[in-house]
Amino acid sequence: MEKMIIHGGAPLKGRVVLSGSKNAALPLMMASLLTDEPVRIRNVPRLWDVRTAIDLLSGLGVVAKWTGEHQLSLHAVRVTGHEAPYQLVKTMRASFFVLGPLLARSGRARVSTPGGCAIGARPVNLHISGIRALGARVQLRGGYVEAHAEHLKGARIWLDNPSVGATENIMMAATRARGSTQIENAAREPEVQDLAKLLNAMGAQIRGAGTHVIEIDGVDRLHGADHETIPDRIEAGSMMIAAAITGGDIEVANAPTVHLDAVMVKLREAGAEVSGNGSLGVRVRREGTLKPVEVRTLPYPGFPTDLQAQMMALLTQASGTSVITETIFENRFMHAPELIRMGGDILMKGPTAVVRGPTQLSGAPVMATDLRASMSLILAGLAAENTTELSRIYHLDRGYEALDAKLGQLGARVERVKDAP
Ligand code: UD1
Repeated sequence: MEKMIIHGGAPLKGRVVLSGSKNAALPLMMASLLTDEPVRIRNVPRLWDVRTAIDLLSGLGVVAKWTGEHQLSLHAVRVTGHEAPYQLVKTMRASFFVLGPLLARSGRARVSTPGGCAIGARPVNLHISGIRALGARVQLRGGYVEAHAEHLKGARIWLDNPSVGATENIMMAATRARGSTQIENAAREPEVQDLAKLLNAMGAQIRGAGTHVIEIDGVDRLHGADHETIPDRIEAGSMMIAAAITGGDIEVANAPTVHLDAVMVKLREAGAEVSGNGSLGVRVRREGTLKPVEVRTLPYPGFPTDLQAQMMALLTQASGTSVITETIFENRFMHAPELIRMGGDILMKGPTAVVRGPTQLSGAPVMATDLRASMSLILAGLAAENTTELSRIYHLDRGYEALDAKLGQLGARVERVKDAP
């Protein structure tokens, strides 16, 4: 096991290039199950979660090959397996997204339920009711969802809440169903749009991705395609917050500004100078005092829950009282006690956290509980005096590619060292 040592105090300056989006790449990879022709995906980040997805797909018969540093070829000539085992689903929830494509391609799937995780219960009821509506027979047995369908049939599906994963799973299943499907109250996240773009390039007939209603006309077969993954908007937001918290000046070269409106608004409100650069690229600078803001996480295009922890670290440095409300996950303040150990003044009550600042953060040994919480503690460490030691950084390796190198390039003093056993 490794830990990260962060020496605080240096304003981060320079230019950084984002990796491809993890949350886009994973469902794009699962979509390869829908065709017997090769699907080539470019701009795939080299992350643990991507490796887990390759293991999962290989177990189902997909031939996966890296054909370039960030270019992946996935070829499912024959689907030989039907199971997503517990070991893989528990390490990466997105493994559950094979349910829809497996069912559409081969009429059966046995996928472990993910169970809860560090940020909440995270049920999969909407995925299941969605594929049931498409005509699948579904049973829950021994911790697995077992689904069968000779032919999926188009249906009208209303989601209780706009779940990203359920929208993606149902959308993939419906591409090869007989007839038309409407997903109402669908998730509008850019990653859903990216998946629809790949599926359409494979011959699917999907309209409305990016709106609340997605319509899919089923087709008999899908073919291979070549697709470039969108840049990671969560990595972008994390880097933008790094500029603001350290009083630095960072250009995020390929930041997808259209996907970052809510983040740019909140950073400006907090006193950072944010200049967008057309459709790609953003520069964030901060010289003056940070101001308190109210942040409420919401489905896209609202403020992303995946940047809430990082924003909390930033607001410990604002002069005044900020209020953060987490509306997506019920237990996503695991980073707060660690930020408090570093000197943050944070009061939590239900889904709300009150952050009073500014407080001088001071480096401490801290522990990562999930991916975004880890990033929040790194940001706090960059703004703190002295040295922070972050353990369990395998969480970071699941979702941030070459983070220490990228931060190092911006002038941060961070190093990875072996952790004591
Ligand atoms: C995706 C992202 C994750 C992000 C989240 C919310 C991926 C791989 N992960 O996760 O990084 O934090 O979106 O933006 O893309 N829910 C149900 N029933 C369901 C499904 C979800 O009640 O069947 C609830 C969840 O518990 C949660 C909310 O819906 O409260 C949103 O979850 P969802 O959008 O499904 O998140 P994921 O797709 O798992």
